[in-house]
Amino acid sequence: MLPYVHPVSAGVVVVLLGYVGSLGLRARSDPRHAGQYLARHARLAPFMYWLMLAAWTGGLVSTWLLRRDLELATSVHFRCGVASVLALTGGALTSRWMQLPAVRAAHPWFGAAAILLAAAQVFFGLQITP
Ligand code: HEM
Ligand code: HEM
Repeated sequence: MLPYVHPVSAGVVVVLLGYVGSLGLRARSDPRHAGQYLARHARLAPFMYWLMLAAWTGGLVSTWLLRRDLELATSVHFRCGVASVLALTGGALTSRWMQLPAVRAAHPWFGAAAILLAAAQVFFGLQITP
């Protein structure tokens, strides 16, 4: 059972990532309710960011302790996870300077890249699921 803890819990985190990202994007497409969406986005995003870091660490620990059949930190899934977490870190860092128009414009692109990479992460993760 234990090797399934990471795939299932990380899958939930990827769904949360998509939801939090969609709140930011909905704020742009629905200006009347933008305030509510942005407030919810800004409240949930830091929590979701730490969950992504936990999912990454959990995958590494799970592979190290439970998956002797896999070589640690060599898979495409591993590299894709690094890229996704880095992109999301770009999102987290840019969110601190949202008063600057250039940063505000760049911020969603970091998030969108993180979401696309996380979707690829699901695909590559399923290929190494026991
Ligand atoms: C539905 C989504 C995912 C699935 C199905 C999945 C599946 C897996 C599986 C089966 C393993 C091998 C360890 C084990 O059997 O428990 C693994 C390792 C790993 N996962 Fe995931 N994972 C998913 C999402 C994520 C996410 C969102 C991250 C972080 C951004 C992540 C990061 C890692 C890392 C860093 C490893 C270690 C890989 C290595 O050392 O080569 N995974 N994943
Ligand atoms: C999941 C991927 C993400 C996407 C797609 C995304 C997208 C967006 C968008 C479209 C906006 C509105 C920008 C505007 O007003 O023009 C926004 C605002 C914001 N985002 Fe993100 N974001 C993501 C991740 C994050 C993360 C990881 C954090 C922080 C840890 C964060 C914090 C914020 C903050 C503080 C704002 C400003 C809220 C306000 O003005 O009240 N976002 N985001």
